[in-house]
Order: sequence, then structure tokens, then C-alpha cells
Amino acid sequence: MKIILLLLVILPSDFMITAAQSWMRSGYWFSGTKFPISDINSGLFTHLICAFGDINSITYDLNLSSSDQKDFSVFSTTVKQKNPSVITLLSIGGGTSNYTVYSTMVSQPSYRKSFIDSSVNLARSYGFDGLDFSWPSASSAADATNIGLLFDEWKSAIESESQNKNNSQLFLTMAAPYSQYILNATLPVDSIRKNLDWVHVSAYDYHTPSSNPDQTGSPAALYDPESNQNTDFGITSWISGGLPPEKIVLGLPFYGYAWTLKDPKNNGIGAPANGSAFTPDGDMTYKAIKDYIRRYNAVSSYNSTYVMSYCSVQSTWIGFDAVQVIKAKVSYAKQKNLLGYVVWQVPNDDNWELSQAAAEQDEKRQKGKKHILLKVLLPVVSGTTTIVLVYTLWRMKRRLFTQPGLKEENQVERRPLAYLNAIESNDSHFLQVFSFDEIRAATNEFSEENKLGEGGYGPVYKGKLQNGQEVAVKRLSETSKQGREEFKTEVLLTARLQHINLLRVLGYCTEMEEKILIYEYMPNKSLDFYIYDPVNRLSLDWEKRVQIITGVTQGLLYLQEYSRITVIHRDLKASNILLDHQMKPKIADFGIAKIFQKDILEANTDRVVGTYGYIPPEYIRGGIYSTKSDVFSFGVLLLQIISGKKSSCYYGQDSNLNLLQYAYELWRNDKGQEFLDETLNDANSSFKLMTCLHIALQCVQEDPKDRPTMLEISYMLRNETTAMKQPKRPAFSITKDGDTEKSSASSGTGLVDTATITTLVPR
Ligand SMILES: *[C@@H]1O[C@H](CO)[C@@H](O)[C@H](O)[C@H]1NC(C)=O
Ligand SMILES: *[C@@H]1O[C@H](CO)[C@@H](O)[C@H](O)[C@H]1NC(C)=O
Ligand SMILES: *[C@@H]1O[C@H](CO)[C@@H](O)[C@H](O)[C@H]1NC(C)=O
Ligand SMILES: *[C@@H]1O[C@H](CO)[C@@H](O)[C@H](O)[C@H]1NC(C)=O
Ligand SMILES: *[C@@H]1O[C@H](CO)[C@@H](O)[C@H](O)[C@H]1NC(C)=O
Ligand SMILES: *[C@@H]1O[C@H](CO)[C@@H](O)[C@H](O)[C@H]1NC(C)=O
Repeated sequence: MKIILLLLVILPSDFMITAAQSWMRSGYWFSGTKFPISDINSGLFTHLICAFGDINSITYDLNLSSSDQKDFSVFSTTVKQKNPSVITLLSIGGGTSNYTVYSTMVSQPSYRKSFIDSSVNLARSYGFDGLDFSWPSASSAADATNIGLLFDEWKSAIESESQNKNNSQLFLTMAAPYSQYILNATLPVDSIRKNLDWVHVSAYDYHTPSSNPDQTGSPAALYDPESNQNTDFGITSWISGGLPPEKIVLGLPFYGYAWTLKDPKNNGIGAPANGSAFTPDGDMTYKAIKDYIRRYNAVSSYNSTYVMSYCSVQSTWIGFDAVQVIKAKVSYAKQKNLLGYVVWQVPNDDNWELSQAAAEQDEKRQKGKKHILLKVLLPVVSGTTTIVLVYTLWRMKRRLFTQPGLKEENQVERRPLAYLNAIESNDSHFLQVFSFDEIRAATNEFSEENKLGEGGYGPVYKGKLQNGQEVAVKRLSETSKQGREEFKTEVLLTARLQHINLLRVLGYCTEMEEKILIYEYMPNKSLDFYIYDPVNRLSLDWEKRVQIITGVTQGLLYLQEYSRITVIHRDLKASNILLDHQMKPKIADFGIAKIFQKDILEANTDRVVGTYGYIPPEYIRGGIYSTKSDVFSFGVLLLQIISGKKSSCYYGQDSNLNLLQYAYELWRNDKGQEFLDETLNDANSSFKLMTCLHIALQCVQEDPKDRPTMLEISYMLRNETTAMKQPKRPAFSITKDGDTEKSSASSGTGLVDTATITTLVPR
């Protein structure tokens, strides 16, 4: 222990930040509340965030209203009077901002520069220790890319400012939505990881009276057996998406939502409701909720399945985070090795009850030696870490109980996250219903020259809608046994699976016994067009292939782990990996398997669909499939991407080895290099070809149980596991280890790459 302490004292402060890993207890203060800054109990926090600055729509400078200027300029000095080591940040953005302006700002280098320079200057002149960017609703791919650029430039401006002025660096953080998957365009995780000190995850506003008026629900559940809208899902998605836990700060809502019950006697979670109570949004600060409970002597209940509290008085029902919930969430954040928590917002708390509970939960776990260590370190580490975003609730209390006069000014507020969730829960509305005539016109009567290919489920045509939009049209063949309504239900379900690496369904048509799906059109064809072709392969260097591998991994991870339903693709192959204009991959035909047949997770099926060469042995032999079947196909795909070799050919000296055996033999004899596509060079990449070969061989093992999960694969690809298992001999090998090699053709799986087959296999 002494040694550690000594080291920490001697080490430069930057290193100490990572070494000490001090726990962050942070909170937002929102100026709209008019809560006096001097009343903040800053001793309960390590970090406090002053919200919100905005962007001037003409100059793109950071811009504060004149009343905010007065408050913000003294924020740091005021909160540091009670707690000199508290770190302060200025947050920019938040609920009332006009995000069109943000979108424009990030799109132009000169606007970004104005914004960055003015933000750094203002933070310094007001004595803030850092800047927080609170624009959670960026949703176009262009915005996401531009935000990445903004962070690159912002960080480098902060670095050079600190060098020039001989100051410690400003912290740079952002507020992010609860889950990586909430938006069309996922945020630029690489840039975030590289440039930001941490991220405030807004883990709330899942079910609200606006998004779910018909049923009471959990506004900020830690877990939810029925939906992905919960904190655990969101945090896990960020971590698996590449954001390290030590950069994640968990948002805690010091507020709840009130619904109006249809029947006061039916008052559980999920009870029938008729919209909000009290206000249009139904939001209430914790203070207001406590007042209400006191006034009506209400009893609040705790539900440990969701980890939430609720209470009801006659037809009013309120879901919120009480002390017990806050404690459970802080423990969760600790257990997941997150950086800490951030509350929205500090003044919402009744007599510091929640802030204290959160802080104590933290201390309890730090008892003993660690506690002493922290006490010694905390003052030293003060230049360190923390904090977040969302939106505001104070108005409730004021409107209802104290100052009705404030109402007007509150109406300008908007709550970006609640809005996004509402979109998400109504996402089927994106889906268009097309008439058969429209489709016929778009594809020029399903003409041959518009035909893009013939998939396993029917032909695909290129089409052009009347508004000029290019689409791909898949006309499902007759074999589907489903009726129209069933088909529609399945399509709607599939359409809710939205991920940047899945091909988006735009709409469908069920007129005249047709079952037609309309997809977005991908200009750059599919992966098979490149990797097997001696010329085309040159346009896919290793960097681009890494982008494809990670994209496909994310798409599969979403289908298997994070979507509302588990989807097994069953026909994953190079020709089903489509490439967009930036050569980013999108998995096509996911969900079609589901549309064709409803099966449970691991099931026997009397029809084998899929493509030989990609399908695993248990599927061919017994028709058994599971998520591990897709892992097998993923392994084959990975082998093809790194080698440019097809699975329909035989390899080796005697040309008697299939692709899997060939890869395995070379790898086993330390000749893996010979297997690889010689045009690829991984010298400047953190992704290594040999690691991919090793992972691929693990995926194609005979026994599904030996194959890794997609989650494990995504960790291995990023080199986050130290020891990787040695793969066993791949499936479809006739020989056992030690035998001499023979052809595997007798297994009857000639590993034909080209055609998708539909075979009958007796049960
Ligand atoms: C902030 O921006 C508004 C317009 O967007 C402008 O009227 C106001 O003068 C600006 N304030 C400052 C301090 O730049
Ligand atoms: C947001 O800003 C854009 C561009 O300055 C402007 O055209 C638009 O009217 C603004 N929207 C609102 C709601 O103020
Ligand atoms: C998602 O993208 C589609 C098409 O690019 C767009 O129409 C839709 O508005 C986007 N959704 C959100 C929530 O931004
Ligand atoms: C930078 O600041 C440190 C103390 O904060 C001081 O010791 C050092 O001399 C300064 N360097 C320059 C170049 O001013
Ligand atoms: C929590 O509420 C849900 C929905 O009402 C219910 O199904 C579940 O049993 C409750 N959990 C506990 C532990 O009471
Ligand atoms: C639901 O509330 C609306 C007004 O907000 C009211 O008109 C309607 O009658 C209510 N419905 C029921 C079933 O109580």
C-alpha cells in the first residue's frame, strides 16, 4: 500500500488519473430552475456541471443569454467555496437548443473553429475546468461523421491551448443517449474514445406518458424483461460498441413521470392509462413527488424486477427513482466498473436525500484500506474526472405547488430524449405500404434489365420510385406459407430492427397475393463482387475490410443480443453483405428467415435453407440451428475476407482440402501467412490478419458449444482478451487430428458457394 501511495505521489498527474480511478459523483445544475448556485451542497459532488450554453446562429460562437452570463461567470467560484476540489464543466446544448444550428455548425470547418475557440476562451475566462457537449439527437450519418471531426479538432485545440498557456487541459465530455442503438446513425465511437474524457449516458425517459400514453411504465428501469428500453441494455450496448466502461458515467434521474389511470384499482406497472397527469409531459421533480406523497400520505412501492418505485393516489400514478432505486443503480455502476454517476439535476432533490444516498452507497463499497487511499488521493486527484445532460423537471413543482406564474417561460423547453424515444416506439410508421402498381412502375414491369439478382427467397430488382428514390425490390416466391396478415406483422417486426449495419426495410406490398419487400438501394454491390475478383479486390484494402468485418460483427451482435427479438440470419454469406456509398457493410435478408418460418430459438426444421459452404454441420444433419449457426457462417465469411478464397474450391498440394481444412492446416503448421490475400497489409492497423484467422477458426469448429458468441468475437477482434483458445479441427473434416488428410467430399457437402439451396431433410 505504501508503495502504491508513493508511486501515486511521484507520478505525473495525468497518469494518476487513470491509476487512481476515483469514483465520480457528479450532477447538473440547470439555470432555468433559478435555484441559487450558492445553495448547492457541493460537498456531495466531485463534479458539477453548469447547463446550458448555446450556439449563436449567425457567428456559431458559444452564446449565453445575458442572465446566464451573470450566473455562469460565478458558478465555479461559488461552488468551490464549499468544496474547493470540485471540478466544474460548462455544458453546451441541451433541450431548448435549435439543433439545425448545431448541424450546420459541425458541417463547416470555419464554423467549427469559431465554436471551438469561443468555447475554450469562455471556459477559461469563467473558470470552468471543462466543456460538455450535449447534443444527443444527432441522427444523420453526416452529423455523426461531423461530430467526430468536431471532437478531433476540439481536443487538439484544447491540447494546444494548454501547452501555450501552461495550463492543465480542459476536460472534454459529451451527453449521449441511453443506448448506442437508439438512432439511425450510431455516434462516432472511435472519435469519442480518442478525444473525450468521458461520456454522460442519459439513462432515462424510456417510457413516458408522451411515448406510452395507454399504459403506465418504467421511466428509467434498470432492467426490463419485456423491452430493450432499459439502462442495462443501453450500457451494455455502449460497452460492446467500443466505449470502455471507465469512460461511461451513468445518468440518474432525480425526477419521475405521472400518468392518469383508467381504473384507480388497477394501479401496477403497465396498468391501463389515459395519458399524463398534471402536465402535458407528466414530468415531476423528485421534490414535487415527495411533496405529493407527503400531502396525500401515499405509499410507494418498489419493484425489483425493473428496479423502480411507483405510487398512486386515486387515478394519479407516478413512476420514479426513490432512494432505494438510486442506491441500486449506483451499485450497478460500480459493479460494471463505470466511471461514476451524474444526476439530472441537482436542485430536484429533496433535502439532498437522493444525493446523499448515492454518495453513501459509494462510500460503503470503499470501506477499509481503499477508503483511506481515496481520502489521501482525492485532494490530489482533484484535477481529474466527470458528469451529463438531459432535461428538466423543475417546472412541475413550481407550476403545481408554488409559482404558477413561471409557466409561460417553461413552455419553450423541449426534451430531446423523450422525443427520440417516442420516435423509436412508433418506428413502424416509417414503413411505407406500396401499391402493386407503384412497384410495377418502379421496376419497369419487373423487367430483366432491372433484375439485380436472384436470392434464395426470390428475385431482386432495382427500382426507382416516383419521387426519384432508388430502391431494391424483393419479390418473395410462393413458397412462403404465411398469410397476408402474418407477413405484415413479421415485416413490421423486422422493420423495428434498426441498426446501421442492417439493410433497412422501407416498405412492403401485399396486394394481389404478392409479398414484396422494398429496401434501401446499395450502390456498391455486395462483398462477393470484390473479394474474389483479382482486380476488384484491390479496391478493398485492409482498412476497408476491417470496416466491413467490424460492421458485420456489430450487425450480428445487434441481431443476437440487443434487438427486441433474437434473429438468426441463416443465410449469411458474402453476397448478402451489401456495401453503401462509403463501403460500409449492411447485412441483407436478415429477418427473411423469420418471415418464412416462425421457429423457436433452437429448433428442428424440416427445411434446410441457407447456402452450402456457409452452413454448419448440425444444421445440415439435423436441421438444428441457433445463434451459433450464424457464428459458423461468420467464421467462413471471415476466412473469405482475409484470403479472397471461395468455399467452392479445393486447396492444398493435392487440391483435396476444403477452405476450412486448408486454413486450419496452414494455421496449425505456422504457415497461416500463406492463407492470406497477399494484397493485404496490416502493418499500420490495430486489427491483425492472423488474429482474424484465429478467430475464424474458432467459429467454424464442429461443436456449436466450442464456437465463441458474437460478444466474445467482438472482444477478441479488439484484442481485449489476452489468451485465445486453440481451435479444434473445423467441421467437415473427415480426418481426425493426427490422420493424414483426405478429401472431405464424401460428406456430401461439396461446399458450393454460388447457389442458395433449399433442401428437404427428413427428421
Ligand atoms: C446570442 O445569439 C443571439 C441570436 O442567436 C443574439 O441575438 C445574441 O446577441 C447573442 N448573444 C451573444 C452574447 O452573443
Ligand atoms: C432553427 O435554426 C434554423 C437555422 O438558423 C432556422 O431556420 C429555424 O427556423 C430554427 N428553428 C426554430 C424552431 O427556431
Ligand atoms: C432515419 O433515417 C431515415 C432515412 O435516412 C429518415 O427518414 C428518418 O427520419 C431517420 N430517423 C431518425 C430518427 O432520424
Ligand atoms: C508551467 O507551470 C509550472 C507550474 O504550474 C511552472 O513550474 C513552470 O515553470 C511553467 N512553465 C513555463 C514555461 O512557464
Ligand atoms: C414488477 O412489476 C411487473 C409488472 O407489473 C411484475 O410482472 C413483476 O412481478 C413485478 N416484480 C416484482 C418483484 O414484484
Ligand atoms: C382520456 O382523456 C381525454 C382528455 O385528456 C378525455 O377526453 C377522454 O374521455 C379520456 N378517456 C377515458 C377513457 O377516460
